[in-house]
Amino acid sequence: MEGEKVKKRYDRVAPIYDGLEWLMERAKFSTWREELFERVRGEISDGRLLEVGVGTGKNIPYYPDGLDLHAIDFSQKMLNRAEERALKVGRDVNLTQMDMEDLGYEDDHFDVMISTCVFCSVPAPVRGLKELKRVCKPSGRIYMLEHMRPRMIVIRNLMDYFNWVSLYLLGENINRKTMRNIEKANLEVIEENDLWLDIFKEVVLSP
Ligand SMILES: C[S@@+](CC[C@H](N)C(=O)[O-])C[C@H]1O[C@@H](n2cnc3c(N)ncnc32)[C@H](O)[C@@H]1O
Repeated sequence: MEGEKVKKRYDRVAPIYDGLEWLMERAKFSTWREELFERVRGEISDGRLLEVGVGTGKNIPYYPDGLDLHAIDFSQKMLNRAEERALKVGRDVNLTQMDMEDLGYEDDHFDVMISTCVFCSVPAPVRGLKELKRVCKPSGRIYMLEHMRPRMIVIRNLMDYFNWVSLYLLGENINRKTMRNIEKANLEVIEENDLWLDIFKEVVLSP
């Protein structure tokens, strides 16, 4: 039920999503994406990549060459935008409508997995993270750019108070305890880098 609500919210914002995120994208996010994929490119040169919660496909232009590319999202309207972007930049990506809490892939299937700004919106984040763990090869890596609830009490309280605004406008929770959820899903943290305070982080995980 909660999943249907979140999916509909993303279907509704899909046409204006990039506009709503424009400032943040320009200010910081596009650089963080570029740096993340530069790193992925340096570490993995072949195999299968899966991006979960691909949204409007903002990462697609940065996908490395030489990999078998897959991306999923449960909002068909967001996926349609991702499809347009893949066509525009000439990338061959298998885009599929799928719920990341119930991935239709066999165990140990992917070498690289990506999530950017996703676990703020997944209805049952620990279930989603456990699915990532299941379909990632034991030698694989999960790369994330995620925002989460910080330690600083004043900011944390403000985020708790205003969470409903971001949830209503963008379908995103600004106060998710993502590092704790990662721990609950039993994923191993290889690296945890603060990009902006301890709110935006680049995280590298091993299953
Ligand atoms: C905040 S957007 C981020 C999109 C994109 N990753 C980016 O960096 O711009 C979150 C995306 O995750 C998708 N999403 C949330 N929960 C999901 C789930 N359980 N299964 C698949 N997609 C999901 C939403 O539909 C939405 O497109």
